[in-house]
Amino acid sequence: MAQGWTAFLVEGDITRYPGSAIVNAANSALAGGGGVDGAIHRAAGPELSEACRRIGGCPTGEARVTPGFRLPARYVIHAVGPIWRGGGHDEARLLASAYRSSLDQAEALAVPDVAFPALSIGAYGYPAGEATRIALSTVFGYPRRHLELVTFVVFSPTVRRIYRETARELGWPLKEVSDFDEIPLPSQPR
Ligand code: APR
Repeated sequence: MAQGWTAFLVEGDITRYPGSAIVNAANSALAGGGGVDGAIHRAAGPELSEACRRIGGCPTGEARVTPGFRLPARYVIHAVGPIWRGGGHDEARLLASAYRSSLDQAEALAVPDVAFPALSIGAYGYPAGEATRIALSTVFGYPRRHLELVTFVVFSPTVRRIYRETARELGWPLKEVSDFDEIPLPSQPR
């Protein structure tokens, strides 16, 4: 069951997402880093580090919210995915939990749309195919309320292909677009 989601797949830089909220692939110290975390911190400006410092940290499998500061998106949902340690250390449950907690935070903000990067498949080493199955199954299976639209933002043609093929295999309706401006964002008061 697709739970009525409108879902998009785009290859691009998530810091340019023009909707309500983006998810960050953070670490449990919320200390900033490389990859998508580094890009989000650079684009949001130094206020983001300060806001993260005030929160103090976030356990693996959970998520915390800050404003987006200088980003186009109003909020950043900092999700902490697991580090891949061979698959026998609860990684699958923790990755699903990071996606679910991010959606819980988005629902608590009552936003209509959210964009996800591919949590854990970069520096944290999670095998991309398996992580994508978890990402898509968790999001599409989520009992959304305010949320209407989700965008998966990938950063390479290889990962884009994995998302496309996994969605097809699982039967989830994922629409591929070539830029953010092709995504029909729900309007909301700012
Ligand atoms: N927009 C979208 N996706 C991006 C961007 C970006 N600007 N930059 C990188 N990515 C992609 C990567 O190519 C990868 O496919 O995000 C995916 C996740 O990779 P990482 O950012 O390395 O995240 P993760 O594997 O979860 O590792 C988290 O890395 O940066 C540190 O502080 C972070 O310690 C944490 C760890």
